[in-house]
Amino acid sequence: MIAYNVNKIREDFPILNVKVHGKPLIYLDNAATSQKPKQVIQAEKDYYETINANIHRGVHKLSEDATAGYEEAHEKAADFIGADNLDEDSNIEQIIFTRNTTESLNLLAYSLSNSKIDTGGGNNKADTIFELKEGDDILITQAEHHANLVPWQQLAKKLKLKLKFAKISLDSNDDEDFGTLDVQQFNELVTKKTKIVAVAQMGNVLGTINDAREIGKIVHENNPSALFIVDGAQSVAHSKVDVAKLGCDFFAFSGHKMLAPTGIGVLFGKKNLLEQMKPFMYGGDMIRKVTFEDTLYNDLPWKFEAGTPNIAGGIALGSAIDYLQKIGMENIFAHEQELTRYALKRLEEFEDITIYGPRKMSEKRTGIISFNIDGIHAHDVASIFDQHGIAIRGGHHCAMPLMSLLNVAGTARISFYLYNKKEEVDKVVDAIKSVKKIFA
Ligand code: ALA
Repeated sequence: MIAYNVNKIREDFPILNVKVHGKPLIYLDNAATSQKPKQVIQAEKDYYETINANIHRGVHKLSEDATAGYEEAHEKAADFIGADNLDEDSNIEQIIFTRNTTESLNLLAYSLSNSKIDTGGGNNKADTIFELKEGDDILITQAEHHANLVPWQQLAKKLKLKLKFAKISLDSNDDEDFGTLDVQQFNELVTKKTKIVAVAQMGNVLGTINDAREIGKIVHENNPSALFIVDGAQSVAHSKVDVAKLGCDFFAFSGHKMLAPTGIGVLFGKKNLLEQMKPFMYGGDMIRKVTFEDTLYNDLPWKFEAGTPNIAGGIALGSAIDYLQKIGMENIFAHEQELTRYALKRLEEFEDITIYGPRKMSEKRTGIISFNIDGIHAHDVASIFDQHGIAIRGGHHCAMPLMSLLNVAGTARISFYLYNKKEEVDKVVDAIKSVKKIFA
């Protein structure tokens, strides 16, 4: 790994010069959304100032340029997550632009609810067909974000399916495994009845890393017609993702957590699956031909991109990908692991702090640290941090069932990104001391 110059990186982020309550901003709410470098802001501005037009419609120069820029952004996204390693000829066909991870997962829940798909996975025909029927199982974990829980919960209610939850370790004395997935129990839960498995690669609360490759292997070995969906909202921004290696059928993520604007997200899906799936929304760009009686849908990926899309956001996402790739995802991951290791060490100074997730660094842990200070509400912690210019999230982190499992109303959460530095961890420690003093 190559250590990069974090101060040089910070110069690219105008917001890091902002003062909050008279103090320099320390932004540690990256799991909620990331800040944007000037290159990405410029890409969006350039689009509106020089080529703004609708895509796939006009024959004029602006429309052609906008179309080329938007399609090129799909190519960049395919390259970024290794979709082109899977199918070089159809990389862009496997990349659907959505608004965000939540929309990507809702698209799947809706489309899979009424699609019959030959997954091509098994040795005999009966094994390969995916079609949801009453009594089938959907499997997720206890640690999912609402976006990877509620769509499946509601689908299960509608079609009378069973939604099952793979367990996470709740042994808070286990420094390495607290909050991690119980893979053995997970293995037992994937049966011939399991049709959909949807798991986050990195947890937005516990900071855990799930071995998505191993999980994918279990899913497809236990049931060749089951579809394996990875919620990559947290992972793709912080680590090198290769969907070909993960063996997933679908991979969902948001642009705004990886330096791009809000309102642009991605759903990767294997081409043979997407081809057989029903559209999610109708109208606009997803149309090939319409008569009064019927409709022929457009080719992939446009079949799943109804209406005028977020063209500027898509192009800016491409610019964010360029930016991240220039630094290198492996380097970003290593930088954040270093910060996390340091932060966990410094938090050991406090006996009255509970960390929710592994307390020791390992390949199962990343740069999201959720914690509580004994007797102090997470919102109070976040408010006092704010007075120090430190932005963190306090609350349920869109994971209410997990909060009830942990027996807490909420947690305070710090989450790192490529522009954070060790000195900011020291400021966190000072802020914790100040919280404790106020509540003493
Ligand atoms: N998913 C985002 C978070 O965890 C909003 O904060």
